[in-house]
Amino acid sequence: MTQVIRNSAELREKVAGWKRSGMLVGVVPTMGALHEGHMSLVAQARAQSDRVIVTIFVNPMQFNNPDDLTKYPRNEAKDVALLDQAGVDVLFAPGVEEVYPTGFATTVSITGVSEPMEGAHRPGHFDGVATVVSKLFGMTQAGRAFFGEKDWQQLQVVRRLVDDLNIPVKIIGCPTIREEDGLAMSSRNVRLTAQERQIAPQMHHILQQAATQLRGGALASDALTSARAAFLAAGFHDVEYLELASVEGLRLLPAANEPARLLVAAWLGDVRLIDNIAV
Ligand code: PAJ
Repeated sequence: MTQVIRNSAELREKVAGWKRSGMLVGVVPTMGALHEGHMSLVAQARAQSDRVIVTIFVNPMQFNNPDDLTKYPRNEAKDVALLDQAGVDVLFAPGVEEVYPTGFATTVSITGVSEPMEGAHRPGHFDGVATVVSKLFGMTQAGRAFFGEKDWQQLQVVRRLVDDLNIPVKIIGCPTIREEDGLAMSSRNVRLTAQERQIAPQMHHILQQAATQLRGGALASDALTSARAAFLAAGFHDVEYLELASVEGLRLLPAANEPARLLVAAWLGDVRLIDNIAV
């Protein structure tokens, strides 16, 4: 049975016991509303650790849009059932007061890799992510942590964070899990209308077409201009960013002349979708 823990002192005691027996502890940080994407990280964690903690905390500090925070899907009972089935040892699901008690005054802020794309369009978002992830590492004391490539920039931010602050956790990036039609799984997908859900897979297809052009030597300026037009033609009403960036350090590139990633954020109705692929 998955044990649900809400208090960090209790969690620390549990983990200390495991560590005394020489066990390797893995953690999968999430905001809940779990889907197969999250569960693929859990499967990796199970395969690569002796004990697995999943955290569920809808972190107010990383939501730059209050509406997005209110509408964020929450279903803990269903999540617990999934984690139980997957053999997760502990669900750590703290309340906001446990994570941000009165008097809390620290922000972890990362420059460089957190600045373009999501960083430019969601002010404060990565400060919120870096702060809560630092706390979750402190609270869980895990030796391994599993993050999805679905949030590619977040994965790079977390890697920077643990290197820069000497946090003793190994970060493991896991591939994006998609629906059969190519749509990257996301907790926000449930908010798409039936019609938007039909359009949404185009995000992946347009990225694939642009990646093919870039691999063939196209300039980013050309490939990205046609991809932007394709997004609008498909029914996305706003492309927040669409960039070709280096795998190392996420520098924007004029062409795919080094290992690169194509990253996008676009709006469909009132849902903001993100995706990325290797070039
Ligand atoms: P959340 O969006 O719940 O995602 C939790 C983890 O699941 C992240 O590492 C994310 O990249 C991964 N994930 C989501 N969809 C995926 C998919 N389709 N395939 C593979 N992995 C996927 O990301 C967050 O929460 C938060 O920012 C968090 C790191 C928990 C900090 O609050």
